[in-house]
Amino acid sequence: MTMVKLGLIGAGVIGRRHLSAIERSTADVQLVGIADATPAAASLAAEAGVPFYADAAHMLAELALDGVVVATPTEHHVQPTLQALDAGVHVLVEKPITPSVEQAEAIIDAAKLNDRHVLVGHHRRYYQQLGKARELVQDGSLGTLLSVSGQWNMRKHDSYFEPAWRHKWEAGPVLTNLIHDMDALRFICGDVEAISAETSHACRGFEKEDVAALILRFTSGALGTFILSDQATSPWSWEYATGETSFFPKTGQNAVRFMGTEAALEFPNLVLWHHNGEQADWNHALHQRSIPMALADAFKAQIDHFCDVIRGEATPLISAGDATDSLRATLAVLQAAKSGQRVLV
Ligand SMILES: NC(=O)c1ccc[n+]([C@@H]2O[C@H](COP(=O)([O-])OP(=O)(O)OC[C@H]3O[C@@H](n4cnc5c(N)ncnc54)[C@H](O)[C@@H]3O)[C@@H](O)[C@H]2O)c1
Repeated sequence: MTMVKLGLIGAGVIGRRHLSAIERSTADVQLVGIADATPAAASLAAEAGVPFYADAAHMLAELALDGVVVATPTEHHVQPTLQALDAGVHVLVEKPITPSVEQAEAIIDAAKLNDRHVLVGHHRRYYQQLGKARELVQDGSLGTLLSVSGQWNMRKHDSYFEPAWRHKWEAGPVLTNLIHDMDALRFICGDVEAISAETSHACRGFEKEDVAALILRFTSGALGTFILSDQATSPWSWEYATGETSFFPKTGQNAVRFMGTEAALEFPNLVLWHHNGEQADWNHALHQRSIPMALADAFKAQIDHFCDVIRGEATPLISAGDATDSLRATLAVLQAAKSGQRVLV
């Protein structure tokens, strides 16, 4: 295959970010069409110099595509993803893969049946900070991992909630934002075994939650807590910590802490707290060591990787199956909050 030909389905906030990543990509890749349910997106296609389609099926029928990026609202991921797979086209679908495990499993089955790959848009996997944290936790640098404490608290702007789909539970901070952290926690600490949780709708009164608090038990035996809100003013979130986009001005404040018997790790700007070979107890001084790492252009890296997957030179860094495990753990938060019961993942 020479040039990889991609189509974009859903040209909203994140669709535009994929568009710009395709432009920055160093892979031999070209955007060849845009499909969006809103006619207003036609102007974006005109700017990009590619044909515009009012629906994905029409684009898939007309263009010879190697892959599509599905960036529609979460509740509309499954249909265009299945249409693309059935048309023999590889898919990069935004996170969460779908709002339900059943829909995600339909995607896994269709990918197998059509022998196509599905890469899921958990773009944080492309940051080396995640890989280093996983290495430090898993190679015993912290001793035995005992616990994790994390936060994601940001106040979204009012106009964010203008589209009706952002009032629904699928657009709440658990499924929209926590899923990133859940995926990162699974990647770093291993699978989640059980979850207890509470949610609150105190601010906006929408179907979606405004705040959630959860307790996690990992299969390793480590415990965790996590607090999140899309209505709370705070400097603590992945986006603020890293400054990954200029939309969220950087605070540099770490949002997650991993605690082991021998050391602790702040994340994502890695800082290791340890006893420097002295006796490791509360009467001895703790020393900190920063592990500085440049921040990757994750969306570009994701498109480059998608092209490698399409060419058969790589397997998805985060497959539909892996993303479904992150989805399962994330949905368990809503289930636990609703039922008041601890949920086994
Ligand atoms: N990776 C990330 O960091 C990240 C960030 C934001 C959003 N997302 C995910 O991206 C997805 C989209 O979010 P957004 O904020 O860009 O939404 P958005 O509302 O800004 O954009 C969605 C676009 O899809 C179009 N659309 C809706 N239904 C369609 C259909 N059936 N076929 C074609 N087009 C359709 C809409 O007209 C709109 O232009 C969500 O799943 C969200 O969770 C991921």
